[in-house]
Amino acid sequence: MTRMSNNKPLLVATGNYATGAVVEQKPPLTEVAPRAGLAVDGREFVRFQHLYRVLHAFMIVSFLTLAVTGLSLKFSYTPWAAKFSRLLGGFETAGYIHRFAAVVMFGTFTAHVIGLFKQKKRNQTTWKAILLGPNTLLPTKRDGQEFVATVKWFIGFGPRPQYGRWTYWEKFDYFAVFWGIVVIGSTGLTLWFPVFFTRFLPGPFINVATIIHSDEALLATGFIFTVHFFNTHLRPEKFPMDTTIFTGHMPLAEFKRDKPREYAELVASGTLEEHLEQPQPEIVVKAIRAFAWIALTIGFIVVIWIIYAMLFAYR
Ligand code: HEM
Repeated sequence: MTRMSNNKPLLVATGNYATGAVVEQKPPLTEVAPRAGLAVDGREFVRFQHLYRVLHAFMIVSFLTLAVTGLSLKFSYTPWAAKFSRLLGGFETAGYIHRFAAVVMFGTFTAHVIGLFKQKKRNQTTWKAILLGPNTLLPTKRDGQEFVATVKWFIGFGPRPQYGRWTYWEKFDYFAVFWGIVVIGSTGLTLWFPVFFTRFLPGPFINVATIIHSDEALLATGFIFTVHFFNTHLRPEKFPMDTTIFTGHMPLAEFKRDKPREYAELVASGTLEEHLEQPQPEIVVKAIRAFAWIALTIGFIVVIWIIYAMLFAYR
């Protein structure tokens, strides 16, 4: 039996990289239930490191706060926005809370970028390997092929694609946040510090910045609370909620089904064992579920609020 330096038994398998299929798998029976792909000792696949779980929670809290305070400012001429802002302490206070949440979001973004640099150093790798390697977050030709294959699968003309580490919709979501922070963040800073920015920008740009900020924010909010929520939590395989980003873990059978190509690659390279950990304690999972339910509920309420506002209150 193959063994790692820490003397843990390894999964032994051969894989077909072209199709992503596991051709032959000879797991040590004490460690793995071969047909279900389950670690017998209950360990789960670690998909997200601790830093990224914490950062996502910060992103959720700051984004929800920005969305609800921003929308109450945008629709300040409606009675319900006035009522909501009064709960927060008035429109001026809503503006301060909005700015505070923006600082938290900028901090989260900065911590993420620093995390990427640290990860690169820890893994002793290069930017080229990160950006052009098999697990890149950049769009590739394969993503285009998987998109077409997914549409075929939806309409019954093919099997579910052999998704790898990042699917095309996960990559899209990731860059939507980058794009959103640049566009909404930069225009938000212009609204925050108009005197400074109009030293080198024409005055009317403040009006333009307001329109860009406000409408891009509406788009981002609508997108996150519908498309992102559906792709992540509401699709039949995950319904009603996927807690992976919070726990960092995926049950091994779910990982094998959801990301078959990544699973096959890890098994083939004999490194799957390095990515397994015991599940989080029950109490942690319960607390995470409560947090996620609150966030999802606020998100859905905001969507209803936006639809109502667009139909009956938009000026
Ligand atoms: C990330 C950095 C951000 C900064 C620095 C920022 C800053 C600002 C500032 C200074 C205002 C004017 C507030 C006032 O009048 O008191 C504003 C308004 C607003 N913000 Fe943000 N914001 C940011 C992100 C967001 C996000 C993520 C959203 C929504 C998801 C959002 C939605 C809005 C909306 C809807 C308004 C009202 C615009 C209007 O009056 O039509 N903001 N923001």
